[in-house]
This record gives sequence, structure tokens and C-alpha cells, in this order.
Amino acid sequence: MVKLIIDTDPGIDDAMAIFYAAAAPDIELLGLTSIFGNVTTDIATRNALRLLEAAGVDAPVAAGAQVPLQLPPFKPSAHVHGAEGFGDIPAATPLRTALDETAAEFLCRMAREHKGELVVCPIGPLTNIAHAIQADPEFVKNVARIVLMGGSYQEGGNITDYAEANIYHDPHAAEVVFGSGAQIEMVGLDVTHQILCTPEDFTALAAAAPKLGGMLQDMSHFYLKFYASVGKLDGCSLHDPAAVIACSHPELFDGPEVAITVTCTGNTQGETVAADDERGTTKVYTSVEASKVKQMFLDRICSLS
Ligand code: BDR
Ligand code: CA
Repeated sequence: MVKLIIDTDPGIDDAMAIFYAAAAPDIELLGLTSIFGNVTTDIATRNALRLLEAAGVDAPVAAGAQVPLQLPPFKPSAHVHGAEGFGDIPAATPLRTALDETAAEFLCRMAREHKGELVVCPIGPLTNIAHAIQADPEFVKNVARIVLMGGSYQEGGNITDYAEANIYHDPHAAEVVFGSGAQIEMVGLDVTHQILCTPEDFTALAAAAPKLGGMLQDMSHFYLKFYASVGKLDGCSLHDPAAVIACSHPELFDGPEVAITVTCTGNTQGETVAADDERGTTKVYTSVEASKVKQMFLDRICSLS
């Protein structure tokens, strides 16, 4: 059983990842932490609570940082995920509220309480993880693995020619994380661009699981339209679900151990490249059993009521 915290900016593919985690019998979801990116941090917190409520999961949510470590705040990616984060689905107020602890405090405490067992899966910008690393020198040793959706090794970027969006939105935080010595697995565009979900897949999810599969199908229209607008007509990438699946099924992914550094300035800002210093290596996934990962995602969502 994987003890998991997802750090998230929900976000359409974040919703897919969280519903997957809620349905997976081999994942114990200990909580969510929220971060800006696809939406503001306040909307991310609200959306995280709303997703857990919809899935009937009682896990806590801790609100994260409002701004990047050094860069000025970015505008949320409303053209990709919609103004409220879930495409055309209107905003709704959840019943529960977030913890009094910040995301970084929650992450540090959970890492202490589940020393050597906690897996952290960031699927947004890495600001909260950097704050946790800076706040508690033991955090990196207490966490078993950090399995992050972000970066690109040989695939080029998606928000610029060089950078993947989660890394681009806080490259200084990403540099703190990759340089921390933690056990890191990078689920970047090299693998997520191989795992595509089509309109027909979403129709099947809605038929099998009308409530949650139906909610994902409602969101998917907006997301698929964005993909089509950038010439990607064969479906949307399962970015964030791929990272959550790598937490419990790393055997479906493979790639080299590389010391990764992040470019923090200039026109390649946010690029993840090989470092020439002595930092610890990251397992950079470049190959994936894409059809198995996709089927695992579809099967789990179909199992939801
Ligand atoms: C990542 O950026 C966000 O838009 C998605 O939710 C995903 O985490 C993909 O580059
Ligand atoms: Ca995300």
C-alpha cells in the first residue's frame, strides 16, 4: 500500500489523477496540498476539497503557497483548464475547509509521522515542496520518494519550446527540489505525451461511472478543445494520472538516472537539463508501457460509483 500525498493545482488532469488515487486499492491517500498553476491557490484549495467530496474521500487538504519562490505570480492557465479549473463546469463551494496548517507544514509533519514510507506526488509547480525542504532539514530523508509530474528530457516543452508548465511556473523551486538529494522520479513530457485519452474514452468512462466518470467527461470537452487548438487532434495527455500511477506501478516506467538542474533565467527558463555538479540523480522516465497505464486509469475510474 502506497501512503500518498498529492500536491496539486486542480486542473482537469489533476481531477483525473485524484479520482484515480481515490479508486486505487493500492493507494492510501493521506491528503492533498494545493498550489497555484492551472488556477490560483485559493481556487486550487477549493477544487481539491470539491474533488475529495465528490469521491467520498475524507482526507485533509492543506493550502499551499500563493506565489513562486522568486518570480512574480503568473496568470492561471485559464485557456487550458477554464477560469475555475474544471473546464465549463461552474464553481461550487465544498462542505469542508482546509487545515489550519500550511501545505509545507503538513508535508513536513506527515513525512515525520510516516518516516520512510510517505510518497509525495507533486502534479503542479514545486513551490510547496521547496518550502518543505527549506523548512525541515529532515524532510528529504523522511520522505520515501518524490514522484513528480513535470519537466522534459528529450521531448521539448509544452508552455515554451524548452519548458514544461509545472517547472516553468516556479523554476527556482524545481531547482531546490532536484538539488535536494531526495529520491526523485520525474514523470515528464517524454512519457506523458505517449499516453492519450480520446473523446471516446471519456464517453466510456461516463457510461460506466456516471457520477465521477461523467464529471471527467464534462471537463474533458474544454481540455480536448485546447489540445485540438494546438494541433493535437488524437486526444489529451494523461499527465497527472501518469505520475500517480508511477507511484504505485513504477515497473511500467523506465529511464536513465540523471542529475537534473533547472534553467532559471533567459529564454530557456524552466528547462530541465543534465547538471554538471555532484548533486544526487533523478530517475528520469523516458519510456512507458503507455497502453497499460492508460488501461489502468480507465479501469479504476470505471470502478467508481
Ligand atoms: C502539467 O501542467 C498542468 O497544466 C497540468 O495539470 C499538468 O500538471 C502538464 O504540463
Ligand atoms: Ca497539474
